Amino acid sequence: MSQFFTEASSEQAVNARMGVEVDARLKTVMASLVKHLHAFIKDVHLTQDEWESAIEFLTRTGQICGNERQEFILLSDTLGVSMLVDAINHRRPDGATENTVLGPFHVAESPQREMGACITLDGKGESCMFEGRVLDLQGNPVAGARLDVWSDNPEGFYDVQQPGVQPKWNNRGIFTTGADGAYRFVGIKPVSYPIPDDGPVGKMLAALGRHPYRPAHMHFIVTAPGFEKIVTHTFVGDDAYLKSDAVFGVKETLVAPFERVNDGSTRWRSTFDFVLTPE
Ligand code: BEZ
Ligand code: FE
Repeated sequence: MSQFFTEASSEQAVNARMGVEVDARLKTVMASLVKHLHAFIKDVHLTQDEWESAIEFLTRTGQICGNERQEFILLSDTLGVSMLVDAINHRRPDGATENTVLGPFHVAESPQREMGACITLDGKGESCMFEGRVLDLQGNPVAGARLDVWSDNPEGFYDVQQPGVQPKWNNRGIFTTGADGAYRFVGIKPVSYPIPDDGPVGKMLAALGRHPYRPAHMHFIVTAPGFEKIVTHTFVGDDAYLKSDAVFGVKETLVAPFERVNDGSTRWRSTFDFVLTPE
């Protein structure tokens, strides 16, 4: 039976309104949301001004969203929500490559390139050979695995952030493994960069005394028939922001070696094997 709303009975008053025919999962999620939201408001004794600021913040977050910008995902990323949702939905066995955040700069259908090709089209940055193998949990090579890779340029921007400045598809490409499961391509040693911080999320970070930087990383999406998709990065180990990633994306197992080499044109080499989990 529903009841009148009081401070003490607020959660029950709202949840009691739920219809009987409501989808079971929706019921569970919404009842829990109301429970935790009401408990949070009571816990901090939310003031009227704070409620208004929260509404304003969410309104500005929505207003800045568009085809090129998703401030709500950025909010989720910076509050650790994206990484938590990913963690509970992609628990993997020991030895399997872990996921991390996708980020807003992935572009579908980037160019397919020959194994060993260079993805850097503007010639800028310190060139780096990325190589390794795609394996199953038993250590067997996975043939026909697709690696979709992308990174920023040495100034810390992705090509899609600088149309007309960087060549289209700069520092992106798709590679497909052969029978040995090996991959190899030339890119640049990535650099750390700030997430877009000129909107409400940037203001929130500043108010919380947090910087907006992500440690240097190369993005990978690795897929192969019969295996779970891996959405991940490899991180440069000596980066100043490794322990304070603005979006909590760093996992110890994803820190890759970047060693200096002197083989002609390439300055760095990063070797990393991806281990796929069966579907
Ligand atoms: C990125 O790594 O591209 C990224 C991830 C989350 C938020 C912003 C950028
Ligand atoms: Fe990134």
